[in-house]
Amino acid sequence: MPDHQPGFIPYANEVLSPAEMAERSQSFFQQMDRRRSLRFFSDQTVDRKVIENIILTASTAPSGAHKQPWTFCVIADPGIKKAIREAAEAEEYENYHGRMTPEWIEDLLPFGTDWQKPFLEIAPYLIVVFKKIYDQVGDQQRKNYYVNESIGIATGFLLAAIHQAGLVALTHTPSPMNFLQKILQRPSNERAFMLIPVGFPADNAEVPDLKRKELSEIAVFY
Ligand SMILES: Cc1cc2nc3c(=O)[nH]c(=O)nc-3n(C[C@H](O)[C@H](O)[C@H](O)COP(=O)(O)O)c2cc1C
Repeated sequence: MPDHQPGFIPYANEVLSPAEMAERSQSFFQQMDRRRSLRFFSDQTVDRKVIENIILTASTAPSGAHKQPWTFCVIADPGIKKAIREAAEAEEYENYHGRMTPEWIEDLLPFGTDWQKPFLEIAPYLIVVFKKIYDQVGDQQRKNYYVNESIGIATGFLLAAIHQAGLVALTHTPSPMNFLQKILQRPSNERAFMLIPVGFPADNAEVPDLKRKELSEIAVFY
């Protein structure tokens, strides 16, 4: 057994044949390609253990200096969901009645969205992703690095884990979202990043008929 540097452990890679690699990468793409943002939820409950696993998966994301600068707040309480819906709708009302540019409103037409967000009370869980702009350690502030990049990757992992578990979600940004910090009584080093209802789709739920870009439009090989 070779000696290892202090603080290091061997990395055990999973060895796949070229055929297995091709098959797994293709089937993972096909599975992820079925993910959609849902705006119509059922009130069917979800086992909390599943939500815990999803959050643990999100927290496997890489982060600047491994600071893991995130807090995932999970809301099942109907009173808190109602408060979040009311505050989100108040912001979205302003967004749809003047704060968004005409171009933005036009870009949103295919989604049929408006200021009303009933799914915030219907979905069994709301996950609010908070980014930690710094770490509070006792009375000391410690720096976090590449917080936006890190939280974006973690949220991507979260959405993939939700999909993988057979659930649906919406990446919702009823901005400005500082009402979430207040309602959930989060400390001053945390900023709301995303509000994500999670659950099952409503019966007969529909999604916009979107097409995704072709490989040639999104990749350049050198
Ligand atoms: C950063 C971000 C913010 C978004 N905010 C909202 C939102 O506030 N409301 C909404 O209905 N959809 C929102 N979406 C969802 C997008 O409209 C959706 O991802 C896009 O139309 C592609 O559809 P798909 O997720 O089904 O592939 C957001 C997505 C992202 C990535």
